Amino acid sequence: MRRTVIAGNWKMNMTPSETKAFIEALAPMVAGKDKCDIVLCVPFVDIATAVEAAKGTNIKIGAENIHFEEKGAYTGEISAKMLKEIGTEYVIIGHSERRQYFGETDATVNLRTKAALAAGFKAIVCLGEVKEERLSGITNEIVRMQTKLDLAGIPAEDLKNVIIAYEPVWAIGTGLTATPEQADETCGVIRECIAELYGAAAAEEITIQYGGSMNDKNAAELLAKVNVDGGLIGGASLKTDAFTAIVNAANL
Ligand code: PGA
Repeated sequence: MRRTVIAGNWKMNMTPSETKAFIEALAPMVAGKDKCDIVLCVPFVDIATAVEAAKGTNIKIGAENIHFEEKGAYTGEISAKMLKEIGTEYVIIGHSERRQYFGETDATVNLRTKAALAAGFKAIVCLGEVKEERLSGITNEIVRMQTKLDLAGIPAEDLKNVIIAYEPVWAIGTGLTATPEQADETCGVIRECIAELYGAAAAEEITIQYGGSMNDKNAAELLAKVNVDGGLIGGASLKTDAFTAIVNAANL
């Protein structure tokens, strides 16, 4: 059976000292909550501190991006080898903020995903429609296209290390959440697309998260849906109590 994964995405928040204090506070609150995997994806400079603070706990640490080249003249970028050496286990790829503000495309998402998988990370690949696309009734086409382009050329045996985060862009950081029905339906469309690409068994196995203003109030309803296998959580992952409540909702 597929795993539920509750992952925080801290974005550009928290210093190393804040990271240490946060994880020391969170660890006892989520101890023993083993019906889901618990991940915090943090800024690059916080990773080493986070990994150290999370030692001996059930919290895993991820990065928010990864470059696809091994090394070289790519000012400002971070390689798989660098992330590996400091104990990173997960990597978010293709977040809508990367697509929107930093020119990320499905082609670069695909390259980064391949690099992450080749290095043995679990890749959290983000996709989702913008508001105009939902209003135009083309959400299903958009997420199917992104799924195909983002995973192009990725062999079936690597799919076990892929998590898809369905994040409707209009719901991210806006306080607007997809209804549980919308989240379930679109995660279901992505799962069908995975079935077409990799077969029914792979589609049953893959973890598909919902992200976009998931919080302590709405998590239980969203996570109860059959096609929603966890959450990628921005704002609410910056508060230990809200994040713990979401973990609890995944452990009912
Ligand atoms: P949000 O962010 O929970 O603050 O809407 C989600 C995300 O960007 O992954």
